Amino acid sequence: MKRDFICLKDYSVQEVQNILNLAKQVKHNPRHGSDYLKGKSLTLIFQKPSNRTRVSFETGIHQLGGNVIYLSPDDISLGKREPTADVAKTLSRYVNGIVARVYKHQDILDLAKYATVPVINALSDLSHPCQALADLVTVQERFGRLKDVRMAYVGDGNNMVNSLLLAASRVGMHISVATPKGYEANAEYVALAQECARMTGSKIVLTHDPREAVSGAQVVYTDTWVSMGQEEESQKRLKDFAGFQVDAALAALADKNYIFMHCLPAHRGQEVAEDVIDGPHSVIFDEAENRLHVQKAIMIFLYTFKHL
Ligand code: CP
Ligand code: NVA
Repeated sequence: MKRDFICLKDYSVQEVQNILNLAKQVKHNPRHGSDYLKGKSLTLIFQKPSNRTRVSFETGIHQLGGNVIYLSPDDISLGKREPTADVAKTLSRYVNGIVARVYKHQDILDLAKYATVPVINALSDLSHPCQALADLVTVQERFGRLKDVRMAYVGDGNNMVNSLLLAASRVGMHISVATPKGYEANAEYVALAQECARMTGSKIVLTHDPREAVSGAQVVYTDTWVSMGQEEESQKRLKDFAGFQVDAALAALADKNYIFMHCLPAHRGQEVAEDVIDGPHSVIFDEAENRLHVQKAIMIFLYTFKHL
């Protein structure tokens, strides 16, 4: 039976922990698992641009002994040139895995449904689970634990915070989310996170007040106000997010040893002030590096699982 990595809701508390432990091993010993993908090819289907995701997956697949085939938006025209089901079934005859970055989350679900090989979500309009797990690795490194760490997320209720909610709730981390009215996190993800939080002890707070969210936080996280695919809404969004910038005054409300996180790409002067993102509390490049290690761990997990 194959296993996909589409959404953290499909992963138990224990499985998330196993992947995080594996990521730690992989990071400390880059040769760990160097033959797990030997003789295997994975294809990357990207409908949107990428720096971190593409390069970390390509590097990680090579480090695990595998081969990569990158398909750009022009190569595949997912859902336009031929039905997504046909793409999934065809690719399954050639390759051993599909890593996909899509606009509509439904496209990822369709790929997973029709492919007979593992499908990994490299970002959709609803979630970004690889980034959220890399962020857990980063928080754990900084604080030596995840349980009871207090994270504040300030900004758009987008794919990033949806996945952070699920990630935090699985490891007993507390998360306060401050969004403008009308830009709240996805209600289904919030409900799933709340359900898991009851088991792990996470506290989830949803507010429209950035100051309330950030007060006493050990982690302050933000993301772009205009995600890929929302460019036409730029002007309205920049207005609606006034007052939600993570600047030095807001960050001053956080714990004095707080860390600043951002999945990148960042827009200095919009969601975050330059002196915060480039200041001493920022761990943005640790997050970027941890994408590589955690994705290697995810792939080892998926291909080990396949052989159980
Ligand atoms: N954080 C992240 O996914 O970056 P890219 O869009 O560059 O892949
Ligand atoms: N929310 C952002 C994340 C980029 C990694 C986007 O979807 O564009």
